[in-house]
Amino acid sequence: MKFVLSCVRCSKTYPGLDRRYRCDCNGTLDVLHDFNELSLSTADFDARRNSNNPLDRSGVWRFRELIFPMGDEVLEECVVTRGEGNTHLYEARSVGHSVGLPNLWLKHEGENPTGSFKDRGMTAGISVARHLGMKQVACASTGNTSASMASYAARCGMGAVVFIPEGKIAYGKLSQALAYGAKTIQIAGDFDDAMALVQTLCEEEDIYLLNSVNPFRIEGQKAIGYEIMQDLEWKAPDWIILPGGNLGNNTAIAKGLLELHAIGLIDRLPRMAVVQAAGANPLYTAWTDQRDVSPMRADTIATAIKIGAPVSWRKSMRGLTALKGVVTQVTDDQIMDAKARVDAAGIGAEPASCATVAGLQRLVSEGVIESDAHVVGVLTGNLLKDPDVVVGYHTGSLDGIQIQRANAPVVAPADVDAIRALLRS
Ligand code: F0G
Repeated sequence: MKFVLSCVRCSKTYPGLDRRYRCDCNGTLDVLHDFNELSLSTADFDARRNSNNPLDRSGVWRFRELIFPMGDEVLEECVVTRGEGNTHLYEARSVGHSVGLPNLWLKHEGENPTGSFKDRGMTAGISVARHLGMKQVACASTGNTSASMASYAARCGMGAVVFIPEGKIAYGKLSQALAYGAKTIQIAGDFDDAMALVQTLCEEEDIYLLNSVNPFRIEGQKAIGYEIMQDLEWKAPDWIILPGGNLGNNTAIAKGLLELHAIGLIDRLPRMAVVQAAGANPLYTAWTDQRDVSPMRADTIATAIKIGAPVSWRKSMRGLTALKGVVTQVTDDQIMDAKARVDAAGIGAEPASCATVAGLQRLVSEGVIESDAHVVGVLTGNLLKDPDVVVGYHTGSLDGIQIQRANAPVVAPADVDAIRALLRS
């Protein structure tokens, strides 16, 4: 085996395929690879983009030697793929100009099969579950992880149990979990309560935990960074910026890029910026005060990142330090205003994703990110995940949100002259 599990806190190691999510000291675990014998070049990864092999066509498994290096024979037996990744990197001029940054690109992870970046970690996590012979998987979720897990579990006939916070998940996401047939349990509590419950359950029952505390979820999510580099012909941008909730995604992208740099496939590293909602900002406060994260009660319109006790905070800080990172926070008004701009640019994304653009605006105005920087922002989820918020915004019925870019539907009689007059007005 070319990898072990290593504790982020005390560095104790365990065999790579031990079914454990934490160290005996309760620290979270990393997959620690040995890339010494790796002899792949960027040209090999590029060539796979033109292949018909399902592993090559997936924007995760294309990078398999860096993710779950078990050899193709083993992977062909266990991998569950929906061709995830391969998302667009949009040149986002209008959005860029609106934040004072002409050279902005947006990687739209909402274009994954279930509409969020979670599919990248999920294809890895579920394939490991299958390799381990697991029959049931579970997760707690603000909605996207559960949608993704439900789909991938259904694709391979595995039982799926999802724990979601009661009444606080966007309907697009809840519908997916129900539609894909997951046993869906609404907890009378928030995401952090659900997360605590599912961890206990998976320790005690024969169920595989597929939250991002599972180190293989992180391995799959690294591929966002790999694909950004591949899209940019392996030249790193100055910055990568993304929203932070449970902090798995920024952990993963940082880990992946550091590994890519260590094996010499990129010659420069980008800096990283993580954006939190002001009402769900445990990383922001800890980073600013230079201390450990302490849990808080979270509240934000961006329900995907409404998380007060992020599981991956320690790993996340390690990655941010290595990438000369920064953490910022934005208000719900700023998130929704940024969302209106991302949507109106014809790209569109769910609220949490647009924290990326709101945070960018703040960092550019503060001079932290220079206006001539080459920046890639990650949009994490699809516009259609949360249609209620969109309609609420444009019809002026969102409580407590300042609405500056409403595009309300116009009521008109079914009469061609009246409509002509309307179009001219
Ligand atoms: N954006 C979206 C759309 C998300 O769904 C999430 C997390 C994040 C950003 C934050 O990513 O947790 O890796 O820092 N959603 C999780 C879920 C928590 O259950 O779907 P993170």
